[in-house]
Amino acid sequence: MSKHLVAPSILAADFTRLAEEVELVNQSEADWLHLDVMDGHFVPNLTFGFFIIEALRKLSSKPLDVHLMIEQPERYIERFRRAGAEVITVHYEACPHLHRSVQQIRAAGAKAGVALNPHTPVALLDDVLEEVDLVCLMSVNPGFGGQKFIYRSLHKIEELRNRLITRNLPVRIEIDGGVGLQNAQQILQAGADVLVAGSSVFKAEDPQAVIRRLKHMGEDVLKLA
Ligand code: DX5
Ligand code: ZN
Repeated sequence: MSKHLVAPSILAADFTRLAEEVELVNQSEADWLHLDVMDGHFVPNLTFGFFIIEALRKLSSKPLDVHLMIEQPERYIERFRRAGAEVITVHYEACPHLHRSVQQIRAAGAKAGVALNPHTPVALLDDVLEEVDLVCLMSVNPGFGGQKFIYRSLHKIEELRNRLITRNLPVRIEIDGGVGLQNAQQILQAGADVLVAGSSVFKAEDPQAVIRRLKHMGEDVLKLA
């Protein structure tokens, strides 16, 4: 199995020093930069849109992993792609025509992700798994950084990983919300292979060290096995 990816979430960064925060990620072992777009409807919070993403694209040397917590995301897929998104993730709960929406993302030239809220079972994705590159399992209720990891998510990771193995599908499992050094090992063991981390990275004294430790998490265990 390929090595897992680390995607720091810019939501927890200091926005008065955005360029420095992105540079910190550029100089780190992070794989992607995770961007949370919120519309104040699908989730009870507002963040940023194309304008900021276009600016971040100029600053970031890492691919942009754009998590759309918005209603009717299909209205803006091409726009987000043009703004610089390499991965575009829409919510299952926001897409009545999910199969069409993920095809639209791929047609725009991005990798297609689907996110599930904590209460949404993974079985509901069975009929679209062939069409997606990534499933983002929310381990907090979306809308805010800095929340507590919901441990039930570990079972969802295991269940989804088993389904993917059975069907031999190369889909990444991303886990988003409350991820840090204290639970990353368990999350990876359950079968996730993309760790989104906001507060645990940007609120740390040494964010790059946290990214490095997240990236190398599990290596000792593997060496012993
Ligand atoms: C929550 C966002 C997350 C958030 C994670 O709605 O989707 O990406 O930034 O932040 P932490 O790691 O602080 O839980
Ligand atoms: Zn997110």
